[in-house]
Amino acid sequence: IARAYHEKVISHYESPRNVGSLNKNDFDVGTGLVGAPACGDVMKLQIRVDEQGIISDVKFKTFGCGSAIASSSYMTERVKGLSLEDAGKIKNTEIAKELCLPPVKLHCSMLAEDAIRSAIRDYQAKRSTMANPKKPGFIDVSQSAATGETVATAHPGQ
Ligand code: FES
Repeated sequence: IARAYHEKVISHYESPRNVGSLNKNDFDVGTGLVGAPACGDVMKLQIRVDEQGIISDVKFKTFGCGSAIASSSYMTERVKGLSLEDAGKIKNTEIAKELCLPPVKLHCSMLAEDAIRSAIRDYQAKRSTMANPKKPGFIDVSQSAATGETVATAHPGQ
């Protein structure tokens, strides 16, 4: 009888690494939450980023198949200690190869690629909001790139 899963998948599935959550409101945490339309499985992957832009902590929670759990577990180990740039370059094909996933399970590894990218985007969006806080009552005057008109945008605050 052919085994449904490769032993590397089973290893990650039986003892997944870095399961859990980080506080999504922490200023140095990025959260990625993605779903696979094909099957409805959902993956949450969170990164904590240090001052140097290096991923210092990673946690995941996956509600999905064994391959999705193994892919996210593998991804957490893979990105710890990497820069955001390098982490964003990891491809699902690398995960699928490492875990020997069959073609029908490729979308499970895609979920892990989507999740890390989504976490990085969330972190970067949070940082840029912090760098350019819109103060209450602040009026933003800028030139529209499309029409050349001056556009004033009011940010009345809460
Ligand atoms: Fe959907 Fe694996 S079957 S993530």
